[in-house]
Order: sequence, then C-alpha cells, then structure tokens
Amino acid sequence: MIGVFDSGAGGLAILREIKRLLPDADTTYLADTGAFPYGDKSPEFVIERCTRITRLLIGRGARVIVLACNTATVVAIEQLRNSFDIPFVGVEPAIKVAADGANPGPIFVLMTANTAAGAKYTSLVERHAGGRTVRPLVIGMLAAVVEDGSFQQEEVATEIRRQVKQTLGELPPGSQVVLGCTHYIFLKDILQTALDQGVEILEPGAAVARQVERVLSSQGPITTTGPGKKKNILLATSAEGLSKALAAGLAGAAPPPCEHVILS
Ligand code: DGL
Repeated sequence: MIGVFDSGAGGLAILREIKRLLPDADTTYLADTGAFPYGDKSPEFVIERCTRITRLLIGRGARVIVLACNTATVVAIEQLRNSFDIPFVGVEPAIKVAADGANPGPIFVLMTANTAAGAKYTSLVERHAGGRTVRPLVIGMLAAVVEDGSFQQEEVATEIRRQVKQTLGELPPGSQVVLGCTHYIFLKDILQTALDQGVEILEPGAAVARQVERVLSSQGPITTTGPGKKKNILLATSAEGLSKALAAGLAGAAPPPCEHVILS
C-alpha cells in the first residue's frame, strides 16, 4: 500500500497523480485535518504529527510514504528518514524544474510561512536556482480556502485574484510561478486568470508520482491486491474530516467514505 498524507485536502492533488500513474496500487490517504494548517505551526509540532502519522500508516501496511505536503517535507522528512526504515517521497517547491526550463524570467515561489523559513528551501534555492532571481511569497488565506472548499465561490475566487495581483504585482515576461504548497494546486486555474497568460505555473504532482513509481518498482511488483480489487482508503484526524473537500469534488467523482482516526 502507498501511504500518502497532508495536513488536509491539498495532498489529494498528489494522490490523483499517483492513481493516474499507478491505477492498480492500493492507497491510504491521511488528512491531518485535526491539526490543519501545518503552515504556521512550530517545527516540533509538525515533526511530532508526521511521526505519529507515519507509525499509523506503517501499521496499516504502507510500503512507501508520500509526504504530499511541502511544509511537512521541508520540516520533517529528514527526521522521518532517520527514524523509520521505509522509503519516503516528499514534495518540494519545483525550483530546479523552473530554473532548468526555457522561460528566462524570475521565479516566484508561493508557499506557507514554514516552508519559506525552512533550511531545505534555502538549500533548494542555493543548489538549483542557477543564478535566477527567486522570490518567496506567502499569502495567508490560500490553503484555508481550499480546505473549506470556499474557493469555488465567485467572491472568494475574486478575493484570491485580488490578493495574488497585489502580492505579485506585474510580472515580467517569462516569469514562472512555482506552487510550493499542495493545496494551491487546486487554485491553479484561478491563479492563472490572475496572472498574465504568458506566466507559467508549475506544480509537482506528476513528478512526485513518477518518483513513487521508481521507489516502488525497486521493491518488487507494484500491484498489491490485483487489478479490480484495489483499495483506496481515506482517513482524517478530525470528526468533520474531509467532508468539505469531498463535497467540493477534490477527491474525484466517487471517493470512498472518510474514516475518522485518532493518532496514538
Ligand atoms: N499542503 C501543505 C503544503 O503543501 C500546506 C497547508 C498547511 O498549511 O497545512 O505545504
């Protein structure tokens, strides 16, 4: 089974890509809705949550664990790799992809405050920006409006566009915007309409799915229950769970019911 987690609904965008690439693999997605958001919590708190989630997913049979959350990856993945004997795949802002691409302009990275403050983010810029201008941007409301599904209301979408325009200003031609928070993937269309059509928006889902495939194939056959019998499980750490995300269709057309779990 592939274990996938995030602070809430954002990682469903990563799960979607994993399922697209590996339709016969079992998945268990845990939304830590009881602790959402991770973006402004202390690193100690986030590490503690990620450790408890990892224990639960391993207990349920995970062969690989995907941190479908930039914040959790930046803050906790090293610690998890040191503590557990299982492969982890993380999600990092795609600065290398942006810098290696054909667009010559500056790179804007939209992310949470925790991701922006992390040493891992600084190191990504140092290693991969290749001399390009990289500007970190934090817009507080973005993860919350995905989590509660309200981004689908026209007045909320308008407010998102207003804040994005105000924060980013007029972007020079050839600019790229890196979505450094998995929740923002669901806002891609709204963000694109707030920006010049020539601004490229980069999101990591497909690359993460390919990395999961690489890790799993190095361990043996990917299918765990056989075609037609695949199990897709949704878990959440609050009673309300993913209800708003499911109502908003973020988990696809016919998602399984969401089970409430308590982390030990
Ligand atoms: N989805 C998380 C990420 O990719 C952030 C949301 C939160 O603040 O919990 O960073």
